[in-house]
Amino acid sequence: MEILYPGTFDPITNGHLDVIMRASKLFDKIIVAVARSDNKSPMFTLEERMMLVQEAVKELKGVEVDFYDCLLIDYASRKSIFNILRSLRVASDFVYELQLALMNRKLHKNCETIFLMPNQQYIFLSSSIVREIALLGGDFKCFVPEPVYKYMIKKVKALC
Ligand code: COA
Repeated sequence: MEILYPGTFDPITNGHLDVIMRASKLFDKIIVAVARSDNKSPMFTLEERMMLVQEAVKELKGVEVDFYDCLLIDYASRKSIFNILRSLRVASDFVYELQLALMNRKLHKNCETIFLMPNQQYIFLSSSIVREIALLGGDFKCFVPEPVYKYMIKKVKALC
């Protein structure tokens, strides 16, 4: 079975990677679909975010990286994959995720969203927290895959 894992991934964190690794035991193919998400004014370009996801998942079998710049359901229709993977960390994720999942199913009746919980060490982790720690000079090494850490250090230096 195939599944799409959509998100902004600005950048991919160990929490996202944990979810991908769990899903790779359950699904034959996972497409990590990086949303352009211009409305979120990402720190990393779409190309950078895709490259960082690619680096992070390169050892995992059955995991591909792609992008979309449209409604998620239109992308899902183009790929003919209507299983969507999302993660639930804490209770406050639920309302937003319920809205996304039900709206996607309203837009296409075959669309189902499957939720996985990351390891508990990652439940308070988010890309924006990692960005903030990095920009303010804190130690964020244990929150992101190694290639992401190295790239972010360079990026932060270039920005400051
Ligand atoms: N580990 C770490 N962080 C996690 C996480 C995990 N397991 N699961 C979620 N997050 C965090 C992300 O880091 C991100 O944190 P941040 O916003 O603080 O940086 C946050 O949870 C949610 O981000 P993300 O998973 O990237 O979702 P999103 O809200 O940015 O994007 C899309 C959701 C991209 C899937 C959705 O907006 C979309 O598909 N948009 C396209 C347009 C569309 O179809 N709209 C209608 C939808 S019905």
